[in-house]
Amino acid sequence: MNRLDELRRRHAAAEDGGGSQRRDRQHREGKLAVRERVELLLDEGTFEEMDKLVQHRCRDFGMDGQTIPGDGFITGYGRINGRLTYVFAQDFTVFGGSLSETNARKICKVMDLALKVGAPVVGLNDSGGARIQEGVLSLGGYADIFLRNTLSSGVVPQISAIMGPCAGGAVYSPAITDFTFMVANTSYMFVTGPDVLKTVTHEEVTKEELGGPMTHNATSGVGHFIAADDADCIRMIRELMGFLPQNNREDAPRRACTDPVDRADPELDSVVPAESNQPYDIKDVIRRVVDDADFFEVHEHFARNIVVGFARMDGRPVGIVANQPAFLAGCLDIDSSVKGARFVRFCDAFNIPIITFEDVPGFLPGTAQEFGGIIRHGAKLLYAYAEATVPKITVITRKAYGGAYCVMGSKHLRTDINLAWPTAEIAVMGAEGAVNIVYRRELAGGDPAVRAEKVAEFNERFASPFVAAEHGFIDDVIEPRETRPRLINALRMLETKVDTTPKRKHGNIPL
Ligand code: HXC
Repeated sequence: MNRLDELRRRHAAAEDGGGSQRRDRQHREGKLAVRERVELLLDEGTFEEMDKLVQHRCRDFGMDGQTIPGDGFITGYGRINGRLTYVFAQDFTVFGGSLSETNARKICKVMDLALKVGAPVVGLNDSGGARIQEGVLSLGGYADIFLRNTLSSGVVPQISAIMGPCAGGAVYSPAITDFTFMVANTSYMFVTGPDVLKTVTHEEVTKEELGGPMTHNATSGVGHFIAADDADCIRMIRELMGFLPQNNREDAPRRACTDPVDRADPELDSVVPAESNQPYDIKDVIRRVVDDADFFEVHEHFARNIVVGFARMDGRPVGIVANQPAFLAGCLDIDSSVKGARFVRFCDAFNIPIITFEDVPGFLPGTAQEFGGIIRHGAKLLYAYAEATVPKITVITRKAYGGAYCVMGSKHLRTDINLAWPTAEIAVMGAEGAVNIVYRRELAGGDPAVRAEKVAEFNERFASPFVAAEHGFIDDVIEPRETRPRLINALRMLETKVDTTPKRKHGNIPL
């Protein structure tokens, strides 16, 4: 019998929570029961439950006599791959997983401990939001949790899994945490549900369309990961935790590395197409460079013109940020700027070095982007890179044009090591556009041969990586095949890096 079957058998017999009928409904819907989730998340036999005798204090609205030990929330601590983790989980079978005053206190208790001890918090959410019968006591409870989410931000990693409905106040705590997982077919998140929308705005939309996993992973960016089911979600959380430190004072856990650190990859020499406007998949480059081709992508479906995620180099976790030429030619736009900025800030807060692969023709032009505030949002990415003090290494694989050159971990934003492949084009703009301006008189005759000559001249005089290298903005031009060993050498050299920012209450990132 596997571990999940065994958990099912054990909990089917238990008469806790909202009873077997409601628990059966969870199973029929393809969901695990709350205790199954917690035990699967933590290493076997490590869960220590806290506050399991707590009861709600709502004596009105006919709830007298309907007390359930623990009030439906399970809180406590245990281990993930041997490392201490705090956990809270909502039991949808008890008043729809709704948050009572006493539930909020239970969550706050583990969050306070996590902050003092310095260990991550994982929340397994499955909740109808504020417990309606408790009114302001429940609202206050949410606000107490939001405060702790905010104070813990950047101190201990906070992970949210959405494993059922998540409505009203239940969505804001996950939104403040670092990473949000959603489970396919069973989870959704919204502030206001479809029924209210229909009444207020006359919009008709399904729960799935309004707040299902793909809506939040591909469109809103609220979700970072989609899991096939509860067990898959828990497996993914455990995998993610392996890249993260326990808190902001520690380094991420290092593993023994069997992938040779001096491994050269000749295939990389031909990854970038000869034609500058041809796409290629930057994820091929990432997988060829990192340990064992193991790349744990974050925000896979959102703003696909930038790729972010975790990998290991020489056994040590790193954050990867890469423009994706295979999508929107790798242009930076509003969503990709916000996605990149948040990831860079996470890595910086938790001592995870940042490796940037750059191939970016610039910011996406157009009224939609300008009206939407690309200036404000693009500035977030710039700010995040400039602010980051962890080891930073940038590899320019092809284009580094215009403002995007500055943004994507340029030397000027105190990036430690900047490397370029021979295919790098570093310029104010692409050659085709640039010659129209600087050689306008020479091109007036419309001769294509003259144009081709001027494009070649521009590329050599202005866009070659050697020009940037002459100024020291690029530390070296390297053969693509050498990328892995060169990055690992740089990371080793930077291992004891210390850098600071001026003392201040906090900066004012353009939100
Ligand atoms: C008390 C609740 C509840 C709630 C659900 N239940 N939500 N009890 N307070 N908020 C109870 C139901 O009465 C039911 O009890 C059981 O949970 C299961 O609910 P169902 O409706 O049968 O389940 P389902 O059809 O799956 O629908 C799930 C749901 C729906 C979409 C979550 O229950 C729902 O819309 N609930 C209300 C959501 C909401 O508006 N919450 C308040 C948000 S305001 P029985 O006994 O029949 O099993 C808020 C403000 C915070 O949160 C603001 C902070 C910024």
